[in-house]
This record gives sequence, C-alpha cells and structure tokens, in this order.
Amino acid sequence: MFDRLLSPTAIGSMELRNRIVQAPMGVEMVAGDGLANEPIIAYYEARARGGVGLVITETCAMDYPNGANSRHQLGMSSDDFIPSMRELTDRVHRHGAKIAVQLAHHGKVSRVDRAEGRDILVPSITEWHGSYSMIADLTQEELGWMAAVNGDGGGKPREMTTDDILETTDKWAEAARRARDAGFDGVEIHASHGYLISAFLSKQWNTRTDDYGGSVEERSRFLVEVIEACRARVDDAIPIWCRLDAIEYLTPEGIVFDDTRVTARLAQEAGAAAIHLSAYGDSTSASAFTLGTLPHTEAKHRHLSAQLKTDLDIPVIGVGRVKPEVGEQMLAEGEADLIAMGRQLLADADTVAKLTEGRPADIRPCINCYVCVASPFFDRRVHCAVNPALGNETELGDADRTRAETPKRVVVVGGGPAGMEAARVAASRGHTVTLFESSAQLGGALRFAALVYEPNRKLLDWLTGQMTRLGIDVRTNTPATPAAIGALAPDEVIVAIGGARERSTIPGADLKHVVDGDDLRKVLTGSGDGDATKVPLAGRLAARAGRTLGLTADADRLAKLTKLYMPLGDDVVIIGGGLVGIEIAEFLVDRDRNVTVLDPGPTLAPEMAHPRRWRVLTDLRDHGASLVTGAEVTSIDSAAVRYRLGDERTKEAAPADSVIIATGLVANPALDRWRSVAGIETVIVGDAPGISYLEGAMHTGFRAGLDVG
Ligand SMILES: Cc1cc2nc3c(=O)[nH]c(=O)nc-3n(C[C@H](O)[C@H](O)[C@H](O)COP(=O)(O)O)c2cc1C
Ligand code: SF4
Repeated sequence: MFDRLLSPTAIGSMELRNRIVQAPMGVEMVAGDGLANEPIIAYYEARARGGVGLVITETCAMDYPNGANSRHQLGMSSDDFIPSMRELTDRVHRHGAKIAVQLAHHGKVSRVDRAEGRDILVPSITEWHGSYSMIADLTQEELGWMAAVNGDGGGKPREMTTDDILETTDKWAEAARRARDAGFDGVEIHASHGYLISAFLSKQWNTRTDDYGGSVEERSRFLVEVIEACRARVDDAIPIWCRLDAIEYLTPEGIVFDDTRVTARLAQEAGAAAIHLSAYGDSTSASAFTLGTLPHTEAKHRHLSAQLKTDLDIPVIGVGRVKPEVGEQMLAEGEADLIAMGRQLLADADTVAKLTEGRPADIRPCINCYVCVASPFFDRRVHCAVNPALGNETELGDADRTRAETPKRVVVVGGGPAGMEAARVAASRGHTVTLFESSAQLGGALRFAALVYEPNRKLLDWLTGQMTRLGIDVRTNTPATPAAIGALAPDEVIVAIGGARERSTIPGADLKHVVDGDDLRKVLTGSGDGDATKVPLAGRLAARAGRTLGLTADADRLAKLTKLYMPLGDDVVIIGGGLVGIEIAEFLVDRDRNVTVLDPGPTLAPEMAHPRRWRVLTDLRDHGASLVTGAEVTSIDSAAVRYRLGDERTKEAAPADSVIIATGLVANPALDRWRSVAGIETVIVGDAPGISYLEGAMHTGFRAGLDVG
C-alpha cells in the first residue's frame, strides 16, 4: 500500500532508505546554550529508530545566539557546537536514517536579539500594518507569556548593509562546514516562514534598491549566494537545499507562487539539491498560521508542489498535513518526490516502522489539535496531546513496549479515552487487562468529540482497534460492580469513569427545546445519561433508526447522517463557549444552523491550543456565527435566550429554536466510592477528578498503564 513512500531515493549524493522525511520542528528542548543535549538527541533518535528516511532538525541558529528565535534552539556558530552535534548525528545514523540540519537566521523574528539588545537584521525597514487579529482570541495568560518571550531588551531592526549580507553569507557557509564536520548528511537552508532569507524574497519586507532588492531575481540573490557559498565550503561533500514558501498568505506584497517558481529555479541553478515547499503568512493574523505554516486543511499545498515539480529537475519535498495514504498518492501522481511529515511523527515516532511492517492501523494518529506547536510560541518544551512520550523520550520513549517483569491482572473501569489508553499501555506491557464499560460502546466523551471534530475519529478508531489487537477483555454493557471486579482478583484497578454534568439552574433550562451536552450525546450516539425525552420525537425516532441500522456505532457515518437530519431547529443558541461549546458550534455551522454562542468569560475556548482556537473562531465568524463574550445568561424562553452584556448590563436576546447548554462539566461526584474497590486502592484517571479533556485523559491513562509495573 505504501510502496512508493517506502521506496529508496536520493537527494543529490545523499541516499535515503525511503521517502518519508521528518519535517523540521522546533521543540524547545535545548538547555539554553544551543548545544544538542540528551533529551533532544533521544527525541531525534526515536524518530530515526521509528523508520524515517531523513530527519531534518529544527531551526538551528547558524549565528547563535545572534539571529536566534529562542535560547532553547540548537546553534552552530562555532566549532564548540560540533561535538554535541556529532553525538546527535551518530545516534541517528545508528538506526539507518540520514540527518540534515536546518540552518536559519530568524531575521525580524529574532526574539533573542530583541531581548538581549542587539540589532535585528532585516532587508529593509518597512511599514507593516498587520491585522493583529490574533490578539483578540488569546487569553490574558497567553498574552502575558507572549509579552515575556518577546521581552524588549532594546534590540531594534537594522537594515542590512552589503557588508552585513556578505558577512552573514560567510557565517552560513561556516555553519554548513561545521555541519559536514559534525556528520550531517545534508543542510537545509531555511528560506521560509518570514525569517531572514524569506524576508529578502518578499516584496513586503524587501524594498531595497541595491542588487538584493527589486525583481524576484534580485530578491533571490541573497539565497542564491548563500547556497553557492555553502556548497563551496562543504566541497559538495553533502547536499545543500532550501525550504521555500509557496505563498505568503494575507500579506499584500507577500510572496506569490509565481515568484516562488522563479526562486526555486534560481536555487536549482545555484546547485540546490532539492526544494522543500512550505508556506507562511501574516504572523499577526489569527488565520494565516493555519493556512500556511501548519495548514488546517489536509495536503493543502499539494497542487503547488505538483506545479513546482514540472519546473524542476531536482526533488521536491511536499509538506503540510500529509497523511501516509495521501503522501503515497502524491508520489504516484508525480506531485512530490519526498513527503515531509511533522506532527504525525510527533504523535507517533514509529509511524514509518508501522507502515513498513504492514500495520498502518497501529499508527497513533495526530488529531490536528495544535497543542504541540502552541508551546514553542511561548518558549516552552513541546508536548503532544496524544503522545505523552513526546519531549520525554529518555524516560518514556520505549515505555509502552517494554514488557513488565511481573505480569499482573488489571481491571479498568470505563472505556473512554483515559480508560482505553490505560488498558492499552498495561496490555502492551504484558499485563492481563479486563475493561468494563457500562454503555454499549467504547469511547466515552471521545465518541461525541469524534462526531463533532473529524480528526478525533481517527483517535477513537485507533484506541478501540488497540483493544482488539492487544486481546483486552472488553465487557461493554457491563456495569463494574465490586462483585464483578472482585471475581477477577485483580492486582490493580484503574478507574476512568469520566466527569459529570451539573444540571443548569438557568430559568427555562427545563424547557423541551433546551438540551445539554449529555442529552445531545445520548440522542446522537446512543450513549450517555442525558434526558432523551428532551429531544423531539422525530429526532428520537431517527436516532433509533440509525442505531438499528448500525449507523450510530460509526462516528463517520453518523456525522454524515446528521448532515441529512438533526433534531435541532434552525436558530441554535449554545450557552457556554468553552472547548465543548465551540466544537458543537463548528459542527452545527457545518450543518447550516444559525449559531449564537454566549459565554460569560473574556475568551472563547480557552482550553483549546491557541492556533486551533484562532482557526475555529475565524471559521465560525466567517460562516456568520455570532460569538458573544461577557454574556451573562438570565433566562430561556420558548423563542429566545435572554442575557445581559457589558458593564451597562444591556439586556439582549438571541433567537432560539433550540438551545444547547454546554457548561457545567465537573468532577464526578461518585468518585469517592471508587477510591477503593474489592479491597484494592484504585488509580483514578481522566476527567473523573476534574475536567482535563483529551490531553488529560491520554496522559493520565498512559501513566496509569505504565505504573502498573
Ligand atoms: C512544534 C512544531 C515546530 C515547528 N518548527 C519548525 C521549524 O523549526 N522549522 C520549520 O521550517 N518548520 C517548523 N515547523 C513546521 C513543520 O516543519 C511543518 O512544515 C508543519 O508542521 C506542517 O507539517 P505537518 O502538517 O505534517 O505537521 C514546526 C511545526 C511544529 C508542529
Ligand atoms: S499535539 Fe495534537 S497536533 Fe500536535 S502532534 Fe500531537 S495530536 Fe498532532
């Protein structure tokens, strides 16, 4: 199925065992000195062992700390960096992968220069009127973190002189020479994402009138000279290539694809061995990040890499939410020569090995939640919602595949994500696991989350698939009574009974057209404890018909079914704009409902990683949803939800045929009687002690599975 992805190839003189590339990703693991340390080496080694053909490191500041974006990134500005880099390349090579370093100067985004009072090198001092729409949807806490990392130590932008350009080019070449000496197999010159070279490529940032500004050929000159200088300095012993932006989104004078085609041809003529095609956009907007650099849409730029391929003789590396099946297709259709994957390799370091071994269903899927990339915005170590080992490979890298010394009998109570993850890890380590689920289906809160946000379905499928693959004794429709648990004589009991929902006290909440998340879940998925009588008879009948036909067992088919019929009116008001309310809003807007979200707080969906929040809220507004913050709901009547707004407490009303109450998620009040069962002190995971969403479920479940022993 993945013959092309797994077939060998080459970039220049560098031969690769397959066509899957680990995309460069800043993970903020370096201690603050730019040196490759054990945590970051273990992180890269895990992906090499996991089968990728080529690892490209995160941005490595070639003149560190000058031009650096973070003190926690790699550096290559003197020979002192070579020994630790040699350790990194040796460890990656041990597993048959090749490794390239991504050498960067961050130009206008050199946060370290700003903080430490140095000049910030830019092609030109230009006026910029960004949209700054990103600010409105950040929490106060995030704004504080942002201010701290952008700390102003007096560094100011300075237009580069010709001497600066020549000196920087020479430093780039020296860094490439060090890369060769440290055992790197290639060098990727970072010429994208708004950093120094890409600023030269963009008319928005480069208004120079000398040889380095003007036409696209002139704007490309700096890149061409850097490529030539690096090639000469490494004696062509290793290939040099570059990463370019196909498009600079939402930037009036930004890079357009026609320019990129010219730049790519010039880079090829200068001896670049490949082009890695990424994208970028206005960094002050709430929207550009998920259009360009980390696209929300799957394989968003495949048509552009396809076009570029027709221009060039050198390999093109495609990137941007490319799943293995799509990557295989892109290769088959000549749309790219290699496929870079970023987040999927964070979510599962063994993705490629699992493809090679013919078990793609075992790949832990990335759910496009943007948690990983949210941390580096604030100079914090990367972490992943679904892969607790990310960023902690030294301790946890092998943990869920290492057999326990003493196999034990384990009972897990509850088949939501936390329970399933605990069961998975315990069973992977050789324990005998029985899982009780009182409803008919596994999934818990994830089943509803999977209905409203498609990527979550992959996680649900993966977790349920692992239950079968690992031979876990799953007992659905089975309440976990002390007697039933005691009969299994377990050594460990893990309790994952989920959170609870408090009934709303808003006057009118008991009206027929008002449902809470549990009611909706019950009707749509056939599970949960909601009051199904709250949903109109037609809705209940449709849900029952769906269940009888087996439709509601499958979130994918159910999502399609709800496009045809939903037991909700046209005007829907959602009370509560947290993660759950906003995901429901997204789901309903996609089903042509007029949606109003009312939330008392200042920021919507604060629990979402901010890049995803930016994307969802932008999409909702673009689709005409009314998103109201600072709204205190006072009552619900048969046609409207009434609320007060602002300091003046203006009285407002939002028309409503249906009302969904998406608040009131709380710790499970039944928890106390689960602290000890059948004479065993239990371990409690997931939402039961306090709502922690998917990330909390996966992390606490993983840890509990591991702690069994
Ligand atoms: C945590 C994180 C850090 C990133 N840091 C870099 C970086 O240092 N250099 C770079 O060129 N791209 C960086 N990217 C972008 C990725 O290389 C890649 O282009 C992007 O994630 C899209 O691929 P994906 O959808 O497969 O994740 C980063 C992405 C993530 C998720
Ligand atoms: S944090 Fe979310 S987006 Fe990032 S790799 Fe993990 S699952 Fe994917």
